[in-house]
Amino acid sequence: MNDSRPIGIFDSGVGGTSIWKEIHHLLPLEKTIYLSDSRNAPYGIKTQEKIIQLSIKNTEKLLEMNCKLIVVACNTATTNAIKVLRSAYKTPIIGIEPAIKPAALRSTNKAIGILATRGTLTSQLFAQTSELYTRDINVIEVEGNGLVELIESGKKESEETKNLLRVLLAPMIQAKIDYLVLGCSHYPYLIPLLKNLLPEGVQIIDSGEAVARQTKAILSNSSLLNNTVKGNNIPEFYTNIDPQVLSDIILAKEKGYKVAEMNF
Ligand code: DGL
Repeated sequence: MNDSRPIGIFDSGVGGTSIWKEIHHLLPLEKTIYLSDSRNAPYGIKTQEKIIQLSIKNTEKLLEMNCKLIVVACNTATTNAIKVLRSAYKTPIIGIEPAIKPAALRSTNKAIGILATRGTLTSQLFAQTSELYTRDINVIEVEGNGLVELIESGKKESEETKNLLRVLLAPMIQAKIDYLVLGCSHYPYLIPLLKNLLPEGVQIIDSGEAVARQTKAILSNSSLLNNTVKGNNIPEFYTNIDPQVLSDIILAKEKGYKVAEMNF
């Protein structure tokens, strides 16, 4: 069996490209289409109803583009909308959630930090997972308010971002966390700054690789893998604002990826 249809990936903006990278790396023969809903970013401060509505809009666009599987490369959209999406569509849908479990299991200090959006931290799905794995752990949850906006405007390495991170990390450092969970797909782009600001030895965990492995497993179990490249499998990226920041973050020019503005 060989299915050459694309994998569809969406996020509230450019951040989900951190997940796309892992998928592309693990499954280089698969064609991918990425939707960056930057016009509506950030999702993290919107109501659940609005997040569901936006997630449906993005999913339908990807299905229109003939995608065989959808990856919700956004923790906020996953934790607020994935149930609705899975019950509305037959196409397999994979989501991303903060990696609380590995952090809680590995923490020797019994103190972990979770940096995520308000939408993720207040969701039912997050509360359930957290309850399951962190009973004996001090969990410092911090809303990353403002971070998505800075990354969306191309300022991921700026002084402004560094100063904001300093404030957000302070309660975690004070609580002597030994694991920091990145609960938003935008945040892996902050790893260089985070490494600078966190005390030595604090491990940073995100969920990108796990999502890529899950994508491979589902494609394989459902006989949806693409085993041979026929024609064009160059990754395609679409955004509903000026594509400059998206192009820069994925190094589109150097790599020859297709980036375009589209109304969706
Ligand atoms: N990348 C999204 C996430 O993983 C950011 C959400 C937002 O736009 O606030 O949660």
